[in-house]
Amino acid sequence: MPDERRGFLTKLLAMVCGGAAVVPPVAAGLWAFLDPLSRRSGAARFMPVTELSAVPDDGIPRQFAVISDRVDAWTGFAAEPIGAVYLRREKGSDMVEALSATCPHAGCFVEMADANRCFRCPCHNSAFTLDGGIVHPSPSPRPMDGLECRVGKNGQVEVKFEKFRAGIADKVATA
Ligand code: FES
Repeated sequence: MPDERRGFLTKLLAMVCGGAAVVPPVAAGLWAFLDPLSRRSGAARFMPVTELSAVPDDGIPRQFAVISDRVDAWTGFAAEPIGAVYLRREKGSDMVEALSATCPHAGCFVEMADANRCFRCPCHNSAFTLDGGIVHPSPSPRPMDGLECRVGKNGQVEVKFEKFRAGIADKVATA
């Protein structure tokens, strides 16, 4: 009887120790697998785009890529373009205005046109003034999307880069 009991206790101890050895790695694996699904994309944040000196003070917008590390559900991508903005400043001003380069109609990139006198979208021909105002008639339901912009003490132009829903009249940030 004591032998049977000892055998039972030995098996029980082996099961407990085996379980203790297996559960943590399995739990860690599950956490790593499921965590990206619960992780939400962060709120828009200011990102350095260029030096103030790289934005000529002639009132003509210039296009700049927005570069950032990007993370999708399971993979991280280091420093790659995630979008583009147009930056513009007036003569002698240190204030910079920023517009998203993404067309509000259906998401194509707008281009400078008519010898830098306006923006035009190559996809369906929406046109915009240099400050992003809509030129009618236009398939785009709203003007180009303005973005918050600031110049840091180090002379870096930083843009609060956001994306907005296309095809609607209201400017609504995508989640
Ligand atoms: S996507 Fe720009 S006009 Fe349609």
